[in-house]
Amino acid sequence: MTAFQHCINPDCGHSFDLLEVHHRCPDCGALLDVEYEWDKLPVPKSLSHFEQYWGQRRIPQRHSGVWRFHELLPFAKLEECVTIGEGQTILQKADYVAPYAGLVPGSLYLQYEGMNPSGSFKDNGMAAGTTHGKLVGAKHTACASTGNTSASLAIYCGVTRMMNAVIFIGSGKIAYGKLSQALDYGARTIQIEGDFDDAMARVQEASKKLNLYLLNSLNPFRLEGQKTIMFRVLEGLGWEVPDWIVVPGGNLGNSSSFGKAFIELHKLGLIKKVPRLAVINAAGADTLYRLFEKEGLRWNGGRCDQTHIKKFYDQMDAEGRRANTIASAIEINRPVNLTKCLRALDFCNGVVREVTEQEILDAKANVGAGGLGCEPASAASLAGTKKLVAEGVIGKDERVVCILTGNQLKDPNATVAYHGNNKEFFDQVLGKRGVKTTEFANHPVTVANDIDAIIDLLK
Ligand code: F0G
Repeated sequence: MTAFQHCINPDCGHSFDLLEVHHRCPDCGALLDVEYEWDKLPVPKSLSHFEQYWGQRRIPQRHSGVWRFHELLPFAKLEECVTIGEGQTILQKADYVAPYAGLVPGSLYLQYEGMNPSGSFKDNGMAAGTTHGKLVGAKHTACASTGNTSASLAIYCGVTRMMNAVIFIGSGKIAYGKLSQALDYGARTIQIEGDFDDAMARVQEASKKLNLYLLNSLNPFRLEGQKTIMFRVLEGLGWEVPDWIVVPGGNLGNSSSFGKAFIELHKLGLIKKVPRLAVINAAGADTLYRLFEKEGLRWNGGRCDQTHIKKFYDQMDAEGRRANTIASAIEINRPVNLTKCLRALDFCNGVVREVTEQEILDAKANVGAGGLGCEPASAASLAGTKKLVAEGVIGKDERVVCILTGNQLKDPNATVAYHGNNKEFFDQVLGKRGVKTTEFANHPVTVANDIDAIIDLLK
């Protein structure tokens, strides 16, 4: 078998067959990677190899923005790969937005992953994860979610009818746009009286006991699909590597998969330069920021200090600290991919920052004014970029790609509360979270139902 599963802990390093189903290494409990025997596989000589597939869009897998990079995630035969048209996303040079971040025109690019079928980047991973589910003959699947993973799993199960989906969500913790998707697409929806961290713990237990195929980003096949976000960024830049990739951090699956993408591209000789990675936490859900920036936790060749992490979580429990942010997608205090993210930060000379609710919403308004818009969590990437430019960590003429992870329509409450004129609604959604100003708001104007009044207003 040229693809297999491999434990990331170097003191264990055990391998498992592609068709075994594990959430973690059964021998030591560490995370698993999908690995390949590259020397036995037809590896492209250069990234421009993939351009030949642009002309093959009648083949669904070549149309897919995930599977047209099949040679870089070859764990299933191309014709077996599940697709519902994911990855038709765009890298946009965002000159209108660049000054907000303190960058010169031509330096800022926004990668709109909200254009996926379910409206978030999760579909990249779900195409790959459901493909593995199909290979192992899974009939029932589950995930815990802050909303987008559940919407994505629900749409893949709804369209392909391969598996039944059960989703675990924190009660009252997800934006309505996302909840409405899971319900509409027919997923069995379990609202746990708790938050995402509780739902994540329960779904792992339930999956083991009930033999449900787990499709959280603990699933290493999901992360294979998310590598392709980076391949499309490079494609959008004519196969040039940017200076920075900036991404919001929640459960840390995306940042982990980006790191793996660059490790592999570098190892295969397909890139020479490695971009720097910035992972941005919300200040109300800042485990990675604290551990990495404040307490110096590092990957350490795979031997990262587990006692340190345990002490951190024990302290968090003792203080009763719970994740809390308007960016509900990243309202996570116990990120399951923490160690893989540390590997990505290590390889990509990364940094971590935290941004406030105010900074997230102001950045979101600027993304929206610049074009296609995004949900609050996604805007953390622009808010983090602004902070890093102000600090001088990112140079103002460096080439920066912010990943906009979710569509603007996912969370209309946050948008309407920011731009609208309803003070009560503002207080309820944003004011109680410490948002004080709406400097970048595009307020609607009320006018009498009278043509002269309207003309007077518009003159
Ligand atoms: N942005 C959005 C819009 C998300 O939905 C998520 C994660 C993230 C960023 C963070 O990505 O977890 O890979 O670090 N949402 C998950 C969910 C947790 O359940 O939908 P990450």
